[in-house]
Amino acid sequence: MAGEFTKISDLKYNVGKAVTIGGWVYHSRPGGKVIFLIVRDGSGLCQCVIEKANIDGQLFRDLKHLSAESSLTITGTAKEDQRSIGGYEIAVTDAKIICFSKDYPITPKSHGIDFLLKNRHLHLRSKRPWCIGKIRHTLIEAIRTFFNSNGFTLVDTPIFTGIAGEEASSLFGVDYFGQPVRLTQTGQLHLESAAMSFGKVYCFGPTFRAEKSKTRRHLTEFWMVEPELTFIDLDDLLGLAEEFVTSIVTAVLRNNLAELETLGVDIAALEKISPPFYRLTYTEVVEILTSKRASDFLCAQLEDFKSQRRNIQRQLDELQAESETAQKQWKKDKIASELIDLRIELNEIDAKIENNPRHAELASKFEWGKDLGGSDETIISLMHDKPVFVTHYPRKAKAFYMKQNESDEKVVDNFDMLAPAGFGEIIGGSMREDDYDKLLGKINEHGYEVRNYQWYLDLRRYGSVPHGGFGLGVERTLAWITGEKHIRQCIAFPRMTDKILI
Ligand code: 4AD
Repeated sequence: MAGEFTKISDLKYNVGKAVTIGGWVYHSRPGGKVIFLIVRDGSGLCQCVIEKANIDGQLFRDLKHLSAESSLTITGTAKEDQRSIGGYEIAVTDAKIICFSKDYPITPKSHGIDFLLKNRHLHLRSKRPWCIGKIRHTLIEAIRTFFNSNGFTLVDTPIFTGIAGEEASSLFGVDYFGQPVRLTQTGQLHLESAAMSFGKVYCFGPTFRAEKSKTRRHLTEFWMVEPELTFIDLDDLLGLAEEFVTSIVTAVLRNNLAELETLGVDIAALEKISPPFYRLTYTEVVEILTSKRASDFLCAQLEDFKSQRRNIQRQLDELQAESETAQKQWKKDKIASELIDLRIELNEIDAKIENNPRHAELASKFEWGKDLGGSDETIISLMHDKPVFVTHYPRKAKAFYMKQNESDEKVVDNFDMLAPAGFGEIIGGSMREDDYDKLLGKINEHGYEVRNYQWYLDLRRYGSVPHGGFGLGVERTLAWITGEKHIRQCIAFPRMTDKILI
């Protein structure tokens, strides 16, 4: 059946020909003699022009009453028309209604985020989730292409595991036939064993963290790609990470320009992404956070927020006045929807104004030794126009497996990559401790059961070599590339600390 249908995205190859498309009503403008239907089919949007004179009378009357998300097939002649959405339209000669959809709950007016999350199964059809979904597809394809074409072997690491890779407090427990096991937080430890077999490996899959933090950067289930390589050093890892991130941004720019434009993304900023990225040590970051430069930056930011607030308030007042005099219902609805959007913006800017002094204080009092907090990362990330590597964190603040630096034992050979524009960490990586005694010491220091780590210690017993890798979070990277404020919009069915609804 699918073979008989033309995709809207292929109309350009079928101008002047008879085509049939299958899809859903996106928008309808019915008139006495002609109906303008905007139809979407998953590949794009297309205006279908239905003239009463050209089709059966009963069908014309039925089509007139079609509302949003009714499904149908449409047959007609494809035409080029620059004024039409997507640049092509169909002069309709026949149609078949498959399912009338009544009172589709998602309307063009704004809805609150809770409503949209509850209706995620339907919201996925809307423009923004569709654009983000298409970009996610490219991103994942680009991730696989990068590693597959650079000599890496894919190894699928397990989801049920017996040991902690990251913070033990963020493990989800599962009853595995009476044996308590965990959902994986990272494929890294198993991947290290595979690296000793293949040399260059990567794993790519869902990852679970029982983090109670309700932030815009945290999901409890997210996708992570993790490469792991032998006989390398930290500089090699940074080089690989910047080549990798550049390659995926380039792929999105190549394949998804239209979606990026629809989302209102700053495309020029993405076009700047190329090696070398900025490199700062953790100690330099602490110096920046506690410097006058950072406090001046935050003061200027606060003034900017206040001026944005004045702007939004002015628009709100104007619209409010307009709504009182509006006569037509469609005009009233449009204003009501714009007012909702502006009120959301106002709340967001108010939160930023409230948080700014607290973040400034946290930064100015930052003490060497702590892990960077979300707001600290945001400040550093806002101060740069390309991703920033932060290297050599304090040993005490980081995971047990990270390699102790040879000349300064207080720090480890690790890095985080912070995306620009305030999006914060998208990659965490490190060289791995390859010395048996030091690793054993770290396992004990963290209070982990050594017997659970015997197989991991074996990798240091039998032919240990320098090795390292990193993990990139798909949703955080997508949030940065699409300019989406909250990563819950960057996965089809987000899992957070809230109840799972669908
Ligand atoms: O920095 P993390 O915890 O590093 C690891 O898991 C290492 N074992 C990876 C490695 O070296 N092979 O996480 C890596 C990335 C983060 O930079 C972030 O992009 C993402 O995973 N991430 C999350 N994304 C969404 N929600 C969460 N709760 C996340 N926690 C980490």
